[in-house]
Amino acid sequence: MSTPTFATAFAPATLSNLGPGFDCLGLAVTAGGDRVTVRRVPGSGVRVASVSDPRLPLEADRNTAALAAAAVLRRTGQSAGLELSVEKGLPLAAGLGGSAASAVAGAVAANAVTGSTLSRRELVLCALDAEAVVSGRHADNVAPAVWGGAVLVLALEPLRLVTLRVAEKLRFVIATPEYAVETQQARAALPEAVRREDAIAQAAGLGALVLALERGDTKTLGAALEDRIALPYRAPLYPGFAEARDAALEAGALGATISGAGPTVVAVVSTESDAGPRVAEAMRAAYAGVAIAASVSVARVDVRGAHLL
Ligand code: HSE
Repeated sequence: MSTPTFATAFAPATLSNLGPGFDCLGLAVTAGGDRVTVRRVPGSGVRVASVSDPRLPLEADRNTAALAAAAVLRRTGQSAGLELSVEKGLPLAAGLGGSAASAVAGAVAANAVTGSTLSRRELVLCALDAEAVVSGRHADNVAPAVWGGAVLVLALEPLRLVTLRVAEKLRFVIATPEYAVETQQARAALPEAVRREDAIAQAAGLGALVLALERGDTKTLGAALEDRIALPYRAPLYPGFAEARDAALEAGALGATISGAGPTVVAVVSTESDAGPRVAEAMRAAYAGVAIAASVSVARVDVRGAHLL
């Protein structure tokens, strides 16, 4: 098949951390995503032709989709000219992996117009280069955005990933309050070191969470969402979170936590209880109770991951 001169790729929203999986666990969900179109043009280098949201940078060295496309050129040793159009489906600075989705869609589309030679693992590395510039070098959003489903990142150098199964009956209720939290701001709140007892609790919690997600163990899941190394320090950044979490639990959620660097809250429910819509409405009302508008939805796992349209 000949190489196309343009391609559009989609990459999904991702929930990361999920409590104890700070910087190493992420999950692609059916909660929208970003689209990037890449065209081969005369000359060399990457240029951003348009962005759907004026808050996104047009400078190629600050735009994650363009940075990822440039990484594709570097990795494949090509000097083509690429022109990008970014259609943002995800909210900015919301904790839904928006910068990762743009980076991944940019990498997938750039790969398609330069010969489709890169593996999914290499696409993660290209998107990771972009993510490193804007929000820090962590793959817990880019890896599941590429692969779909849940991914555990074991190491970055060299990149080692494990894909996880998520029980079919689990749903993820997402509440995104209207305010933004920049990832860098949330990372600046983290302590340099963690206490030994917190490290042990986090390791045990992540083990329990992985098993509970795979087995659909609703008894363990809620408690396994506890995070001891990020959320306690970041909590002041998330007005309304405590109220939304309490409301979600009251309405039948198994547990709730912040997604990624927030402020999006994710509550986990099982289809056995049919609590999804109730939990969504309870979280919306809890935010409204503290005068914060929030958009809510009930998502499934996105098993497909990034793909060409
Ligand atoms: N694991 C990252 C964090 C995700 O919580 O800072 C943010 O993109």
